[in-house]
Amino acid sequence: MKKREAQHRTGPALASLSLACALAATLGLTGCRGDRAEDPPRQFFPDMDDQQKWRPQSQTQFYADGRSMRQPAANTVAFSRSPMTSQMLEGNPAWASSLLADRADLLRADDAAFTGKDASGVYLEKIPVAVDRAMLERGQNRFNIYCAACHGMAGDGKGMVGQQWSYPLPTFHDDKYITRSEDPNIPQWRDGYLFHTARNGVWSPDGTQNKMPGYAHALNVHDAWAVIAYIRVLQESHRGTKGDVPAAQLATIDAAAKAAADAKAAADTAKAQPAAPAAPTDTPAEKPADKPESGKGGAQ
Ligand code: HEC
Repeated sequence: MKKREAQHRTGPALASLSLACALAATLGLTGCRGDRAEDPPRQFFPDMDDQQKWRPQSQTQFYADGRSMRQPAANTVAFSRSPMTSQMLEGNPAWASSLLADRADLLRADDAAFTGKDASGVYLEKIPVAVDRAMLERGQNRFNIYCAACHGMAGDGKGMVGQQWSYPLPTFHDDKYITRSEDPNIPQWRDGYLFHTARNGVWSPDGTQNKMPGYAHALNVHDAWAVIAYIRVLQESHRGTKGDVPAAQLATIDAAAKAAADAKAAADTAKAQPAAPAAPTDTPAEKPADKPESGKGGAQ
């Protein structure tokens, strides 16, 4: 019995001893990092520590111009880690398209798409890039993330934060954001203006007060145009009529409208009915129990 007890006690003791050893070993390796010491540092990958290299901005006798750093080829911008041969571009269009898009972003050759303004500085009337379904879905996603908190999912200015704002937020369904105006003080109907606002925010006329933060840090130009396209979708969805619905979907809408009307009629009848039988049993004792019952039925 005694022997057993002793074994029981040595088990945990051994375990904690080995744990302590492991700890000490780890501390030995990591604990000294960054500390000052007289000993030469331990080198685990000496070939990486000690290698021949040029230090940036340093001098050398090796090159005729005396600089360790080489000059980039004239009139070029360094781009991409791999050279783009026509073979690579044609052989893998999906891969190439993302690289080419990156290059276009880097070169910013299409100024209007990056600023939302034309060459004379006037906000563009229309989105200068192609709009397709994927773009609208991306715009919806970004709008709901970055704009809806204030402007509301429907763009009516009634987001959770927007409702708490010190003054009512504009609704994107306001006429000035939709209808063309020749008044230069009303640029809000222009896609370029909305784009500029999404990226740079709203400032007081003297430029000192930031009324709305800009979202350029979160929305690249493609996403910003997608958000504007989606704002147009929201506006359109509010102004649409039955005439805009494709014939194939009209039946579904009519059926839904009929179901809603039937449900309302049924609810109205249910509300009207309890009133009649309630009259004869209208004794003081039953009244309190009756009231909440009929109230509940009416609400449903
Ligand atoms: C933190 C709240 C907030 C968020 C988020 C926000 N906005 Fe605004 N936005 C405002 C306020 C406040 C105004 C009104 C500014 C003013 O004119 O005083 C405004 C105004 C606007 C206007 C109207 C500008 C004008 O001149 O009439 C547009 C367009 C707009 N926002 C677009 C966006 C877009 C797009 C996003 C998302 C990328 C966004 N906002 C995100 C607060 C916000």
